[in-house]
Amino acid sequence: MIAIKSKREIELMRKTCALASETLQYIEPYIKPGVSTEKLNDLCHEYIVSHGAIPSPLNYHGFPKSICTSLNEVICHGIPSGKEVLKNGDIINVDVTTFLEGFHGDTSATFFVGEVDLKLKKLVEVTYECMLRGIKVIKPGKKTGDIGYAIETYALEHGYSVVEEYCGHGIGRSFHEDPQILHYGEQNKGTLLKEGMTFTVEPMINLGERYCEVLKDNWTVVTKDRLPSAQFEHTVLVTSTGYEVLTLRKQETI
Ligand code: MF3
Ligand code: CO
Ligand code: CO
Repeated sequence: MIAIKSKREIELMRKTCALASETLQYIEPYIKPGVSTEKLNDLCHEYIVSHGAIPSPLNYHGFPKSICTSLNEVICHGIPSGKEVLKNGDIINVDVTTFLEGFHGDTSATFFVGEVDLKLKKLVEVTYECMLRGIKVIKPGKKTGDIGYAIETYALEHGYSVVEEYCGHGIGRSFHEDPQILHYGEQNKGTLLKEGMTFTVEPMINLGERYCEVLKDNWTVVTKDRLPSAQFEHTVLVTSTGYEVLTLRKQETI
C-alpha cells in the first residue's frame, strides 16, 4: 500500500523535513577532528527535542541512539559512541530523522573532517551527484527503476559500486513505508510514481566493491573490503510536474 499524501499531510511533511534539515545544518560546524560521535548525537538529540520533535531512530527496532553516524568504511547505521573520535581526513555521514506532529522527515549528508584526500573527496562529490541525478528523474509517470538506473549509471561511470542491500523508502506517518527505492535498476521498471507520494533517495556508494557486512552490534553496516563508502539522503515529494525536495538545506540549490 503506497500512501498518497493529502494537502494537509504534505504541509506536515514539509514541517518535519525542515526540522530534519535544520538539524543537519546545526550539527555541521561541530564536525571537526577531536569530537566524538556521541557528542554529535547528544547535540542533535537536544536540538530535535527542543523543537518539539522526537528523533525517530531512538529505540527504532532497538537502535540505541538518536542519529546514525557512519564513518569511513561504515556504509550506514553506525551507532554514535564516546569512544569514536573524529580525526583529520575522515569522512562521516550523519543521518537525521525527526518525528514531528505525526510525520517523519529523513535526511543525511557525508561531511569532511579537516583535510580529506582527493580520492575520498571525489567519492563524496560523485555520491552527492548520484543522489541529485536520482531525484531529477522524478515525476508522475516515471518509475522507481528510472531513479535507480540514473544513480547506478553515474556511479559505475566513475568506477564505484552501489550498495544493494539497503534502499530508499516511502516515508510519512511511518519511518519506513512503501515503496522501496532501489539505487540500481532498469529504466521503466518498478513502481509507478504518482503525485503525492513521499519517499527518500539515499544512495550508498562504495569506493571498492559493493558487498557489505553487519558488525556484531547488529547495526553497523561496513564494506566487506573495508574501503570507504559515502551517502546522501533527501526526502522528496512527487508533484504534478516533477518533484519537491522537502529536506533542502539553506544554500543548497538543486
Ligand atoms: N535514517 C535511516 C534511513 O535513512 C534509518 C536508520 S534506522 C536506525 O532510513 F534504526 F538505524 F536508526
Ligand atoms: Co531513509
Ligand atoms: Co536516513
